[in-house]
Amino acid sequence: MENRNVPDQRSKSGKQNGNSQPFLTDVKTLRERARQNMAGGSVTSSYGGEVGKSIEILQAVLATEIVCVLRYTMHATTATGLSSEGVKAEFAEHAREEQEHVMEVAERINQLGGKPDFNPEGLASRSASEYGHADDLVEMIKENLVAERIAIEHYQELIRYFGDKDPGTRVMMEKILVVEEEHANDMHDLLVAHEGKPMLKR
Ligand SMILES: [Fe+2]
Ligand SMILES: [Fe+2]
Repeated sequence: MENRNVPDQRSKSGKQNGNSQPFLTDVKTLRERARQNMAGGSVTSSYGGEVGKSIEILQAVLATEIVCVLRYTMHATTATGLSSEGVKAEFAEHAREEQEHVMEVAERINQLGGKPDFNPEGLASRSASEYGHADDLVEMIKENLVAERIAIEHYQELIRYFGDKDPGTRVMMEKILVVEEEHANDMHDLLVAHEGKPMLKR
């Protein structure tokens, strides 16, 4: 890892006019650095996080999202019973959205210089949420609600972790979090519709 994090822009640009902003790295320095670091992809020397650690965290997020795709897909195809059609459609829609998260996270890992881990071996243990084993509609809804709530809590922590160190990853996680919150809300509404009473809020 090179150590060019604090460029002396005055000496590099040769002059410093009165209205320039001293805290911004001048364009020439940025371009030179970008050219030298082409091999680093989107990871520039101003990247504040530990890239290896970020990739490791995102591999766990990737596994979580893959497990969500698998669980929702299984539920969408196997749900039975009265009024299951609407619920199946909801499960299928969530499976598609989880698949979008899979792609976003995998692309981010790639941008950071890592190789997204799609290996089915050990997938469940890398994931924060569970695949589940529900066999009736209400149990399925409950499993999804629990999985969404785990993801929400986990992602909130990660958003705080990435903070200003890695705003690109943080913003991606924030967008994903909003969708997970919608998913949890959808599952909660379905549960109320099928059980006729609201779940106790923690
Ligand atoms: Fe997701
Ligand atoms: Fe979700």
